[in-house]
Amino acid sequence: MAIDGERVMANYTGTGNLKSRIDIYRYRSPAFDPVDLAVELLPDDGLGLVLDVGAGTGRYTRRLRTAHPGCAVVAIDKSPGMLTEVEAPAMVADAQALPYPDDGADAVLAMHMLYHVPDIPAAVAEFRRVLKPGGTLLASTNAAGDMAEVAALWDRAARATVGPGAYSFGTAIENFDSASAPAPLNAVFDAVEEFRRKGLVAVPEPGPVLAFLASLRSWADCEDAAFDALLEAAAGELDGHFAEHATFDFTKTTVFYRCR
Ligand SMILES: C[S@@+](CC[C@H](N)C(=O)[O-])C[C@H]1O[C@@H](n2cnc3c(N)ncnc32)[C@H](O)[C@@H]1O
Repeated sequence: MAIDGERVMANYTGTGNLKSRIDIYRYRSPAFDPVDLAVELLPDDGLGLVLDVGAGTGRYTRRLRTAHPGCAVVAIDKSPGMLTEVEAPAMVADAQALPYPDDGADAVLAMHMLYHVPDIPAAVAEFRRVLKPGGTLLASTNAAGDMAEVAALWDRAARATVGPGAYSFGTAIENFDSASAPAPLNAVFDAVEEFRRKGLVAVPEPGPVLAFLASLRSWADCEDAAFDALLEAAAGELDGHFAEHATFDFTKTTVFYRCR
């Protein structure tokens, strides 16, 4: 079940949680930087205004500014704490109500953020409204059922401690994963193209996996002490795993949608 609006944002008061999650992908193979794919999928030239909505740490914003020096790339995020490391122009705003006029942007980015938005059709309609006719929306998410191995680890640790209902890792993004994303995009855009990048993440030690799980604390519906017990149980599971295996492996499939 998706997490409600206020609790979603509690995870994004600062950049630390997101950085912990992104960090684990240094063990992904083949190596894949989603920022490279975003640059590749956007037009090579003619970009005047790009809105990076749900910009987070600003990794897409920064690269697009370098790739398109003449273009104004605006980082937009609902959380002021996420924008502290992003240079201007940057603004706090909600994807469902962008403070931009109609038909002005050449491209909008919504990278791994739409599953957090309470009203996804409203946000997609808003992206269409601010885009010029023929402009590009680039949205990304994970494949349905992705990271099943991490979800299973979480579930085993949760069952042994806080109970299975505290947070459902497997279904947290199901309102905008590869199974559910095409419908709201196709409802608004004439052409929606899908690009999949499959990878295997082979983590050589427990630390990055535990840091990933620890970053989910504010999304778990339990007391701090119970969450600590969950992490301890996960650490025990991982110790058992690493006694027999060199790596903890999980699949990761990133899906991009280019909409026009
Ligand atoms: C998983 S992070 C992705 C960050 C960045 N796009 C990336 O891929 O590195 C999701 C971001 O969306 C932001 N966010 C969540 N709901 C939002 C909303 N309704 N409007 C704007 N930003 C939102 C969060 O604050 C967070 O920075």
